[in-house]
Amino acid sequence: ENESTVSITVVGASGDLAKKKIFPALFALYYEGCLPEHFTICGYARSKMTDAELRNMVSRTLTCRIDKRQVWPFLLLNCDEKMEQFLNRCFYHSGQYDSEKNFSDLDKKLKQHEGGRVCNRLFYLSIPPNIFIDAVKCASMSASSGNGWTRVIVEKPFGRDSESSAALTKSLKQYLAEDQIFRIDHYLGKELVENLSVLRFSNLIFEPLWSRQYIRNVQLIFSEDFGTEGRGGYFDNYGIIRDIMQNHLLQILALFAMETPVSLDAEDIRNEKVKVLRSMRPLQLEDVVVGQYKSHTKGGVTYPAYTDDKTVPKDSLTPTFAAAALFINNARWDGVPFLMKAGKALHTKSAEIRVQFRHVPGNLYNRNFGTDLDRATNELVIRVQPDEAIYLKINNKVPGLGMRLDRSNLNLHYAARYSKEIPDAYERLLLDAIEGERRLFIRSDELDAAWSLFTPLLKELEEKKIIPEYYPYGSRGPVGAHYLAARYKVRWGDISLEQ
Ligand code: BG6
Repeated sequence: ENESTVSITVVGASGDLAKKKIFPALFALYYEGCLPEHFTICGYARSKMTDAELRNMVSRTLTCRIDKRQVWPFLLLNCDEKMEQFLNRCFYHSGQYDSEKNFSDLDKKLKQHEGGRVCNRLFYLSIPPNIFIDAVKCASMSASSGNGWTRVIVEKPFGRDSESSAALTKSLKQYLAEDQIFRIDHYLGKELVENLSVLRFSNLIFEPLWSRQYIRNVQLIFSEDFGTEGRGGYFDNYGIIRDIMQNHLLQILALFAMETPVSLDAEDIRNEKVKVLRSMRPLQLEDVVVGQYKSHTKGGVTYPAYTDDKTVPKDSLTPTFAAAALFINNARWDGVPFLMKAGKALHTKSAEIRVQFRHVPGNLYNRNFGTDLDRATNELVIRVQPDEAIYLKINNKVPGLGMRLDRSNLNLHYAARYSKEIPDAYERLLLDAIEGERRLFIRSDELDAAWSLFTPLLKELEEKKIIPEYYPYGSRGPVGAHYLAARYKVRWGDISLEQ
C-alpha cells in the first residue's frame, strides 16, 4: 500500500463549496493523519491561478481541531506546521470543464506528482449541473487512473425530477460504473445521523419501541435563520422540497425507519433504505404546505423578501418553506405520520429528529397533567445541529411532599460529554470515498425511489401554480404547517418552547 498514491482533484476549486468545505475537510483529514502517505491535491477551475494563489486562497479557511482539554502551545505550533506541509501538497490546474485536452494536461501533471506509483484518483465535482456530464466525460476519458481506481464524487442536484435524474444517471453510466460514482448527501456524514443506527441497533431499550405500537409520530425538522441570499439563481430552479426534503430529510427518514440490515455492509444498508423508500406512498398535495418568506422589519433592520433577490423573478412561486406528512405502508409503520418541515429565513437554525411516543395506557397519573395529555408523553429528541444532543423527555416527580409531576430530560449533551470537536460531515465522506466505503453514499436505485415519492407532487405544485403561504423573514413559518400537523393530531415540537 505504501507504493500507491491518491490524487484528489477538486473540480470547481474556486467555488464556495470547495473553499468552505472540501479543502478544510481535506486538511482536517491530513491533520488527523487519515490521508495516505502519498497524496496530491489538485484544484481545477477555469480561472487562471498559480499554485501559490491557490494555496493562499485555501489557507484562509483552514483550521485545526484541538482537544479542548489540552490546549498546549506546541499543539498550535504543530498546527501551523501541518498547514504548511498540507499546502505544499496542493496544486492548481487551470482548464475548461469540457476540454479533454485540458484534462489530459492535468493527467500529465498528476503523473509527475505520482512518481510512477500505483495511482488512485478521486475527482470531486463541485460544479453546476449543466457542466457535470462534460466534466465526467473528460475526467474519465483523459485523466482516469491507468493502474489504480478512479472514483468521482458528485453533489446534488441529481436532476430535478424522476426523468431528469434518470437521464443524468444514464449519462453518468456512459463513462463510469455505478461503483465509481459517489453521490454525496452530506447529511449522511453528520455525526448524529451516523449515530442513529448505533442508537437503535445497539441499545436494547430503543429497538423494541421502534414501531407503530409505541411511536405516535416522527418529526424531521430543518430550519435556517437566513434566506437564500446570493444563491437565488440556483435555488429558484429547485426550491426547498428538492433542496432539503427529497434528500437530507428523506435520507434521515430512511435510516430511521428501515428494517434491521443483514450487516453493516454498504449494500445491506442501502438495500434496507431502498425497501423502506419503496414502501412509502408518494406525497399528496393535500399533505403538503408550501411557504415563501417575505420582507420583515425588526428593530430597525429590514430583512429582504425571497423575491428581492436580483437573481429571482419577481413573481416566483418557488417555496422556501415546506411541511409535509409522509406515510410508510408497511407492517412496522402503518398509519404513523412522519412529518417533515424545512425552511429558510426562519427564527432559528437547527436540524432535529423528534420521536413522540404514545400515551401510557391507563396512566395512574393522568390527573396530574391536567387536560394536556399530549404534553405528558415521552419524546426522544436527536438534535443533529447545532449543539448536538440526544435527550429523552420523561415524566418525573418534582421533589417535595406533594405529588407534582413535570417533564425532565435525560440528557446526552455532546459538548459536555465529549471533549473533542465533532468532525465536519465532509471529512467523513471524503475519507469514506478514499477508502471505498459506500455506506453513506446514495445508490442509483435509492435516488430513483426518492424521486418517485416527490416527482408527482412537484409537478402538481408547478402545473397548478400553487401560491405559497407568505411568512415574515425570521418568523416560525406559515401557520398552515400547524393545521397540517393538527390534521394528524400532531403538535410540532420546538426547541424554543422547551425549558
Ligand atoms: C445544502 C443546501 O444541501 O444544505 C443548502 O443546498 C443548505 O440550501 C445546506 O443551506 C445546509 O447544510 P448544513 O450542513 O449547513 O446544515
